[in-house]
Amino acid sequence: MGVLSVLVRALRPATGVAAITAGALALSGCGGSSLSQSGGGDSGDEVKIGLLVPLSGVYAPLGEDMRNGFQLYLDQHGGELGKRKIKIVTADEGAGPQSGVPAAQKLVTQDQVTAVAGVVNSATALGLRDFFDESKRPLLVANAGADDITGARKSAYVWRTSFANGKVGAALGPAVADEVDGGVYLMASDYAAGREMVAGFRKTFEEAGGKVAGEEFTPFGKTQDYQPYLSKIRGSGAKAVYVFYAGAEAVSFVKQYKQFGLAGETPLYGTGFLTEGGVLEAQGDAAEGVKTSLHYSSEIDTPRNKKFVEAYSKAFNESPTVYAVQAYDAAAVLDKALAKAGGTGGEELAKVLGSIGPIDSPRGQWSFGADHDAEQKYYLREVRSGDGGMVNAIVRELS
Ligand code: PHB
Repeated sequence: MGVLSVLVRALRPATGVAAITAGALALSGCGGSSLSQSGGGDSGDEVKIGLLVPLSGVYAPLGEDMRNGFQLYLDQHGGELGKRKIKIVTADEGAGPQSGVPAAQKLVTQDQVTAVAGVVNSATALGLRDFFDESKRPLLVANAGADDITGARKSAYVWRTSFANGKVGAALGPAVADEVDGGVYLMASDYAAGREMVAGFRKTFEEAGGKVAGEEFTPFGKTQDYQPYLSKIRGSGAKAVYVFYAGAEAVSFVKQYKQFGLAGETPLYGTGFLTEGGVLEAQGDAAEGVKTSLHYSSEIDTPRNKKFVEAYSKAFNESPTVYAVQAYDAAAVLDKALAKAGGTGGEELAKVLGSIGPIDSPRGQWSFGADHDAEQKYYLREVRSGDGGMVNAIVRELS
């Protein structure tokens, strides 16, 4: 586990209930230790589903949220999806494809799961695409936003309940062009997700008349001191900054942005991962006023979301995050698909994924588009001080 990951974990210790649930998941086969070799994940009435999430690395806290979201849906449905008992086999995605690809291969070839849900990192998702396509098992990507997975490299077996990186960035471009008078500095983690979230933003931002003051990509998972980059931002004379950072990197960046003195003078924008969940809790006051685009906030004021927030908070003693919702919805997708498919084989499941209809999600209703990506609304959010600390208040919908 990296130093930054330890930092975030230390700042947000597991609560009693969350720890119990994590323990239950571990007992149900964490690490792919099941011995059943029934083929296709169906032993009698029980269906095996692989959950591939980071349990280590800078994105480990995101993985924990995803396990919680998936588990909550199962708990609310008597441990069944499509009227079949579910056995979860959890595997560690780790920090990227070097660990994530073999872990997924083990879930499919050794544990014989029917389908895999999860995957946080875009590079892991890109590394898994051909394997799932060739093994004919569905992969429900519940975070990783790599554009090509639901674009140029779309597969009948790969579907996404989260977002495409470019779309989250693109949603914010016109709003920043409208609000900022002067150049905007772009910065992100140097890997697929950062590059695509910057490219998506840049396109709609420039189309709306925005001017770029500079662009920088920082080594992913290794950067702990952002001061040299913050100096460059100040030197550029930028009037605002747009970034993609998530997990432990988001905590460090936002805290240092404030310590460096930029927070008061140069407005900070980003994709919503920058201020989500445990990350925001660890940033505290340093995040006040940060504006982001995302398809979820625990602050969405609808009966459906309020019910979800209440159930999640009761189970895990913390507010849900976008990661929890994306995994909750992956369970909802599997519920519908298993109910609709003639059997539990990967091919049978993949065939019905395009016709399961809308998902009644805490984020609002969404459906799979022709590209296998979630078609959904994006919101402009602003970090404000709320009842129990900082929250991502909804400012308005983005078109
Ligand atoms: C990604 O690698 O696609 C990724 C990772 C973490 C996020 C969002 C996207 O919060």
